[in-house]
Amino acid sequence: MKMKNVTRKPAAALTRFSVSLEQALLRQFDARIAREGCPTRSKAVADLVRASLVRDAWQAGRVVAAAIVLVYDHHRRGLAQRLTHVQHDYPRMIIASQHVHLDHDNCLEVIVARGRPDHIKQLADRLKGAKGVKYCALAAASTGQGL
Ligand code: NI
Repeated sequence: MKMKNVTRKPAAALTRFSVSLEQALLRQFDARIAREGCPTRSKAVADLVRASLVRDAWQAGRVVAAAIVLVYDHHRRGLAQRLTHVQHDYPRMIIASQHVHLDHDNCLEVIVARGRPDHIKQLADRLKGAKGVKYCALAAASTGQGL
C-alpha cells in the first residue's frame, strides 16, 4: 500500500513555568476544570490565554471569524429575501451559510464569516434589525492564526 506524503506541522515546543495562586482561587479553578471535564490544568490555562488573545483580536480590529445564528419567522413577507439581500452586501466576508427549516413557522440560519470585527458586527446588527427576526446571536471566534 502506498502512503500519502503528508507534511505535518511539528508540535509547538512547550515551556514549563510555575504559577503562584491563592489557595481559594486555585480550588475554584480546579473545580471548574473538573466540571468542564478539562484533562489538565495546563490545557485549562492555555484555553484562558487563547480566549484572552481572541478578545484582544476583536478589540484591536484584527481579522477574526464568527458565527451568526438567526431564528426567524418563515411566514414574514419578504423577510427571507431581505436577509439574503443584506448578506449579498458582504460576499467576501461570508464564508458559508446554512438554512434549517426548524418547523412549519421557523427558520434557523447560521452564517459563518471571516473579516474585521466591526464589519461582522455591522452584518449581525443589520440581520438582527430585520422585522421578523426572533433571535440573533453573534458567536465571536478566531481564525486560529497565532493561537
Ligand atoms: Ni426555512
